[in-house]
Amino acid sequence: MPDGEPPRQPGRFVVLEGIDGCGKSTQLEHLAAWLPSSGLLAPGARVVCTREPGGTALGAALRQLLLHPPEQAAPCSTAELLLYAADRAQHVERCVRPALAAGHWVLSDRYTGSTLAYQGYGRGLDRAALEQLEALATAAGGPPLRPHLTLWFDLPLAAALARRGGRPADRIEASGAAFLERVAAGFRELAGLRGWQRVDATPPAAAVSQACQRHLRALADG
Ligand code: TYD
Repeated sequence: MPDGEPPRQPGRFVVLEGIDGCGKSTQLEHLAAWLPSSGLLAPGARVVCTREPGGTALGAALRQLLLHPPEQAAPCSTAELLLYAADRAQHVERCVRPALAAGHWVLSDRYTGSTLAYQGYGRGLDRAALEQLEALATAAGGPPLRPHLTLWFDLPLAAALARRGGRPADRIEASGAAFLERVAAGFRELAGLRGWQRVDATPPAAAVSQACQRHLRALADG
């Protein structure tokens, strides 16, 4: 195919979810390095790595406000929810949708599942309101955008905290043990409700990568 011509296959939207420290960001990097030589990409297709919050220029500013706000500027729970929704709307319309339309594979570190887990199960915000916002934000610039595949990295909270070691916590991570327990339980329940693929995140990274690759192969075959 000549350079510049769009690939004929539709793109794929793959989301990685899980608690902080579960290893999803490392696995996203591994998948991005492996995909181009995997034979799964159509000619002309690329891998687009992105994340929430922070996958756009607006999102980068929102990420700073969400995770490292100046003292006195920390958002209340409802404001926090709306900022994540704003980040998502911008991300969907400006980043994910155009990449998929061009036939690329989009790998996103977090998506709507994180809002349900952190703001829903964690903060205790109203589920119906969360789902309404999810519908609004994911419909930015077109029909509601659902991932083709969500990988849920299942790691006990104690193991995730141990992996973080002495790294300083951001505002969300510093929300307390009970909050993080609720988030972890929320991810587990959501995985069942939403049909996410569970990835056991306890083995060494290389074994986890193999498991992720199997899921992506199955997606490409399906
Ligand atoms: P992440 O980028 O995974 O953190 P790190 O920099 O440690 O890799 O995620 C940022 C934080 O935002 C994380 O604690 C989860 C939280 N978050 C929510 O609370 N709600 C959301 O909708 C999203 C997307 C993230």
